[in-house]
Amino acid sequence: MSARFNDAAERLNEAAGKKVADIYNRAGDHYAAYADGDPTQLFAFDGMHAYADRCVWALLEKKLVELKATGATSVSFLDAGCGPGTWLRRLVVRARALGFTHIVARGFDIAEAQIERARLLARDLSSLPDVRITFDVADLSARLPEADGSVDIALCLYSVLSHLPVASLPDIAKEMARVTSGHFITTVRSVGSPPTAFVESIENVRQLKQDHVQDRCEIELSGGRHISFNFHLFTAGELRGYFANDFDVEDMRGLDLFHSRFLPDPRWSPAYLQKGLSDELVQLEEAHASNRAFMDRAAHLLLVVRCKGAAKLRLVHSAKAG
Ligand SMILES: C[S@@+](CC[C@H](N)C(=O)[O-])C[C@H]1O[C@@H](n2cnc3c(N)ncnc32)[C@H](O)[C@@H]1O
Repeated sequence: MSARFNDAAERLNEAAGKKVADIYNRAGDHYAAYADGDPTQLFAFDGMHAYADRCVWALLEKKLVELKATGATSVSFLDAGCGPGTWLRRLVVRARALGFTHIVARGFDIAEAQIERARLLARDLSSLPDVRITFDVADLSARLPEADGSVDIALCLYSVLSHLPVASLPDIAKEMARVTSGHFITTVRSVGSPPTAFVESIENVRQLKQDHVQDRCEIELSGGRHISFNFHLFTAGELRGYFANDFDVEDMRGLDLFHSRFLPDPRWSPAYLQKGLSDELVQLEEAHASNRAFMDRAAHLLLVVRCKGAAKLRLVHSAKAG
């Protein structure tokens, strides 16, 4: 590739990133409410689409408990594309409850308004002596300031990677692998997932069109507002492929294959339909979450990878702690 082409491609990527940032900036506080519900109820997970959140949280909690069991007293988290910082706050609160005494957490996002919101929501945590929680405006395509192997758990949740050009993903995977000594956990929208309007409830959408060739999503909202931005939908094999060179793949699953589609909507369905189905849906999810055909139609794909040689590092850690 010529330097001239590189410059032009970089300028295009910058403009695309700015467009994405504008959308999440404009969404402001509304985004946290849309994505996470009440920001003070960190562990409620009770919305119509909360099944995936519950799965992600169960996984993160398990990773924390396992790390604590090695004898670790300090822990470091990184959240790339953190939005309002809810996942980082969950991790910090749980890490303290588990007895970690030195907690470092950094979130960053391309959207300034999300970072302001994240700082505000985390102000109580940031005054605690055992916690260093910070939020920065930054682009995931840039080099990370973290030292090699300094992060225990790195996150990139809910479609952050879908907003980036696929050509940048190998470099992003490498950079994440450089800073992570434990796990990197990401979710993206699958290629067969139901439509989303990202910052707005789907009922506020008048028209929506995903262009799979150009990786662009065009949305017209019911107020007449038009938003368009880069968006890529992944197959499970493709997502795994981007990270498998730099990490060991631990888990790859579809999240929410059936819940959003089959749980009755309380705004519409009678109360008697609300009961009973939930447990069976969980069983169905568990049975099919790793089935390729279902995975590629899940609302989200979950990929869990660990630093190559993490098991060895963990043993050294345990030996030191013991
Ligand atoms: C759907 S939101 C998810 C936010 C958060 N991870 C969560 O789970 O609630 C996607 C986020 O990715 C951020 N984002 C998109 N492109 C980015 C980039 N190149 N660098 C950093 N953040 C980015 C957006 O600003 C937005 O906050």
